[in-house]
Amino acid sequence: MSALFSSYTLKDVTLRNRIAVPPMCQYMAEEGVPNDWHQTHYTSIARGGAGLVIVEATAVSPEGRITPNCTGLWNDEQAEAFKPIVAGIKKGGAVAGIQIGHAGRKASSERPWDGGDHIAENDPRGWEIISPSATAFGANLQRTPTAMSKNDIQRVQQDFVASAERARDLGFEWLELHFAHGYLGQSFFSPHANQRDDEYGGSFENRARFLIETVRAVREVWPDNLPLTARFGVIEFDSNDEAQLKESAELTKLLKAEGLDFLSVSISFSTPDANIPWAPGFTAPIAQRIREEAGIPVTSAWGLGEPEIAEKAIADKQMDLVMVGRAHLANPHWPYHAAKVLKVSDPSWVLPASYAHWLERY
Ligand SMILES: Cc1cc2nc3c(=O)[nH]c(=O)nc-3n(C[C@H](O)[C@H](O)[C@H](O)COP(=O)(O)O)c2cc1C
Repeated sequence: MSALFSSYTLKDVTLRNRIAVPPMCQYMAEEGVPNDWHQTHYTSIARGGAGLVIVEATAVSPEGRITPNCTGLWNDEQAEAFKPIVAGIKKGGAVAGIQIGHAGRKASSERPWDGGDHIAENDPRGWEIISPSATAFGANLQRTPTAMSKNDIQRVQQDFVASAERARDLGFEWLELHFAHGYLGQSFFSPHANQRDDEYGGSFENRARFLIETVRAVREVWPDNLPLTARFGVIEFDSNDEAQLKESAELTKLLKAEGLDFLSVSISFSTPDANIPWAPGFTAPIAQRIREEAGIPVTSAWGLGEPEIAEKAIADKQMDLVMVGRAHLANPHWPYHAAKVLKVSDPSWVLPASYAHWLERY
């Protein structure tokens, strides 16, 4: 039996296999409201056979969007528009997850295919950006954010809670807090972005505070029987990998103590000057280290979309789920492809019968 195709249970949620689709922004929403693009996209990926489908980074407030075309979950209209998406994922047989986040100093940007730069300050499509400190990211994100006041911090944390409540009420069963990729959560932890001299900056305890408080507040409204997870960049690949990994494992333990059930191990992306050693599955050993040191189930992404690599990551206990992103954009039926490559005895069950009959039995 393939490890990748074994089921996985966390709390009251059981995934039909270890294949998860990571959040992938579609940049196709208006005013944060998802539409038929998202419904078709998520439904077809769920029908493709993955165990878990996590809806893209969805902003907890208007200023938390990366681009004007990102999804949001701060009002009723958005919540209503998510209903058929949740239903489509579930009908497709997958567990419906969502990533909620705030883009911090990377907000108010153009879509990637329009260059991805910050929207010019005098362009009415843009908005004021906030971050722990008034320090720009650099490279193509040159705008200097406004340093957040303590009121701002509390407001954003309440926005996370309110979005989590909406996600809960919509029937999402897997919540991922976006604490990665140089966005707001990550920015509080990263000295590249956080130069505060109050209790939210400086020492490890202070840089961890925003994340710990946010997990604590969200856990109060997110049902005990459903997984509360986070995506966090455990490493920057700048100059100090070992110290960062130690801190990240410590932070993960603290988040676990607040009720975090699972971590998606990723990269910090808090400086344009990192030197990232891209290679298929290169984060897998890092994920395994966090899994073992922090004693928490994990997943990771980045080049795991070859079936043998994905299978090995689960069989070797490097991670509990494998995130397969771009390979699902290329082929929403990637799990069927993987089942064929891995020679699972009857790959037909990975497909809906109306496809499987013609591909496997005819
Ligand atoms: C189109 C696209 C959109 C993405 N959007 C998000 C996102 O919303 N949240 C996030 O945490 N990562 C995002 N990512 C990163 C993916 O979740 C994933 O980590 C990345 O694609 C690497 O995995 P892969 O090699 O399997 O594609 C995005 C990646 C792509 C290609």
